[in-house]
Amino acid sequence: MKYKVTCNDGEVSFYCAEDEAVLKAMIHAGRGPVKHGCCGGGCGVCKVRIVAGDYHAFKPMSAAHVNEADREQGVVLSCCVQPRSDLVIARV
Ligand code: FES
Repeated sequence: MKYKVTCNDGEVSFYCAEDEAVLKAMIHAGRGPVKHGCCGGGCGVCKVRIVAGDYHAFKPMSAAHVNEADREQGVVLSCCVQPRSDLVIARV
């Protein structure tokens, strides 16, 4: 199952499988609002906000980059989450 991921500026969209990290799909598609980083949840360069949609955090996210208040606002590390529905994401 693949889901559509759209950046809230409307300029970028790509498809991401439910077993694929959003960042990986963004890199494979050659487009997205964030840059390629460690892909391991440690550097924080892939931080985005999930504006709409459901996701699953399949890897731990460094608390140094995403704290509890961030999480409540939908801020995640895109290398650590997989989609569970179409998503709308925003740069942070
Ligand atoms: S790419 Fe480093 S935390 Fe996601």
